[in-house]
Amino acid sequence: MSEIQESSYRVDSLITQDIDAYLLKHQHKSLLRFITCGSVDDGKSTLIGRLLYDSKMIFEDQLAALEADSKKVGTQGQNIDFALLVDGLAAEREQGITIDVAYRFFATETRKFIVADTPGHEQYTRNMVTGASTADLAVILIDARKGVLTQTRRHSYLAHLIGIRHIVLAVNKMDLIGYDQDKYDAIVAEYRQFAEGIGIKHFTPMPISGYAGDNITTRSENTPWYNGVPLVEFLETVELDVTADQAKPLRLPVQWVNRPNLDFRGFAGQIASGVVKPGDEVRVLPSGKTSTVSRIVTMDGDLQQAVAGQSVTLCFADEIDCSRGDVITPADAPVQVADQFEATIVWMSDEAMTPGRAYWIKLGTQTVSASIQAPKYQINVNTLEHAAAKTLELNAIGVANITTDRPVAFEPYEKNHALGGFIVIDKMTNATVAAGMLSFSLRRSQNVHWQALDVSREVHAGLKNQKPAVLWFTGLSGAGKSTIANLVEKKLVRMNRHTFLLDGDNVRHGLNKDLGFTEADRIENIRRVGEVAKLMSDAGLIVITAFISPFRSEREMVRKMMAPGEFVEIFIDTALEEAERRDVKGLYKKARSGELKNFTGIDSPYEPPYDPEIHINTAKMTPEQAADLIIERLIP
Ligand code: ADX
Repeated sequence: MSEIQESSYRVDSLITQDIDAYLLKHQHKSLLRFITCGSVDDGKSTLIGRLLYDSKMIFEDQLAALEADSKKVGTQGQNIDFALLVDGLAAEREQGITIDVAYRFFATETRKFIVADTPGHEQYTRNMVTGASTADLAVILIDARKGVLTQTRRHSYLAHLIGIRHIVLAVNKMDLIGYDQDKYDAIVAEYRQFAEGIGIKHFTPMPISGYAGDNITTRSENTPWYNGVPLVEFLETVELDVTADQAKPLRLPVQWVNRPNLDFRGFAGQIASGVVKPGDEVRVLPSGKTSTVSRIVTMDGDLQQAVAGQSVTLCFADEIDCSRGDVITPADAPVQVADQFEATIVWMSDEAMTPGRAYWIKLGTQTVSASIQAPKYQINVNTLEHAAAKTLELNAIGVANITTDRPVAFEPYEKNHALGGFIVIDKMTNATVAAGMLSFSLRRSQNVHWQALDVSREVHAGLKNQKPAVLWFTGLSGAGKSTIANLVEKKLVRMNRHTFLLDGDNVRHGLNKDLGFTEADRIENIRRVGEVAKLMSDAGLIVITAFISPFRSEREMVRKMMAPGEFVEIFIDTALEEAERRDVKGLYKKARSGELKNFTGIDSPYEPPYDPEIHINTAKMTPEQAADLIIERLIP
């Protein structure tokens, strides 16, 4: 046992004497979440080690136990060797565990802390964004010998982007520059100039030494010229986000509707900001319906008031519509509702963003289908310059417009993280591929309203005496889509059906003549064809489309655009070898010779449907037989 352990480790004696009193004491402490930014060289591990060591430590397992609502566990004070602890953190890094955010817990007399420790390299933007997304405060570490570096700028930019309200500029290793005030002042001045440039309005500089312990828990005698507080005191007293959130208007994203029986209907969720009391007039967005709060229900009984951070169930005086994803606000201070936005997006997937593709977007408790347009620009996090970009790759940060398939209730991220921050989910893999921040809604979405028309789609279809449908043919080039679609149309017309055939080669001569065969262009091709097919089905027609439509995502997107049951996916299944053998247009030959790029099946993918309504195997039947089979299935 080293000397340090015996002499300076202080076990809270309550742990051993009265476990209940001990747990209670910590339960009511406020919790500060913060993030440390810097590389190992800046002394980050040493600083974290120092914080854990110098403050009255309660270790991970113990705090976790405290969090688990005063569950009784046999907590024992642990002796931690400072050097060992630092080595442990450094070792983690060497083993490449650095890709993940490490969360550490500790507590002092007045507060509990969770520190997210994220690696500093550029490729770890994703981790920093993850770690910072819930942080109240960021400690930006600077090596006093090196001053403001590119990574200092990058970390500060990200911290500010994510909306961390408190930034501590910890000028570390002061011992190694002889506690030189002039050097410290110069670093702070340089940082101030940069910070103002990116919109950081306030930051708190501190001269510290994680290694020597200067200005960590007590004011250091080595820096008599510093009249601020030591780091730990600052962390203990800085205003928490939840406290600040209480002063804002009420925002309660509804997580679920609590309806155990016919007599009780409540709307449950965590209050993102503000305060609510029974009798408050409230408004539910996006619908805009209003009512009065009749009760605030919790597991521990009714409340007379609930505040930001609390999870509650609200009951209303009136039976108004309100469901998961809606946002409850004061009647006179609602949030905005829109379906087109500008947003800043941090891409976090190895697979680059596909502009135009439909993704899931999770914003508050709302999940909507949305497409992200090609970025307006990408931000170079090192130089902060804007650069042109067609897509966003892993760790890229860009600004782009987003269109959701239905209006959502939101607030700009700057005002409210809970209602302006979102994640992007790939519809096929269900993986989270990006995080984003809504900046504002596009005015065009607010000013273009849906016009209700008197002659409805039912009237159109009724006149034609038929049910509209979209027969969506998909398959490789040369599979036989156009041939079979053409036969199907002729047969339907003979049966007095009103039809229209949209064919890839033809549409690409007109409406879509500006599009080529890149992934993005094919997606836009299908999106437009989908919209046209939708209009035509509204006009009462049976629409037949013959496009390769190689991606499942876009076929699903078009399916969702149509009324339920109206979209019929017809897979014209021809093996690549067979399509290539036929090579009616000579395109496969060109593709093989490299003369034609991005050719489906050769150097561009085709994703066959998993579960099409109709599956035609062209090896087993003639086009005529295929057409008959399709008609039979449509009109039994
Ligand atoms: S889709 O992929 O965007 O759905 P679409 O059906 O409109 O394609 O157009 C496919 C037709 O364009 C093919 O039948 C072929 O005649 C022609 N074509 C030209 N270049 C390509 C290419 N690189 N890949 C596929 N088809 C191509």
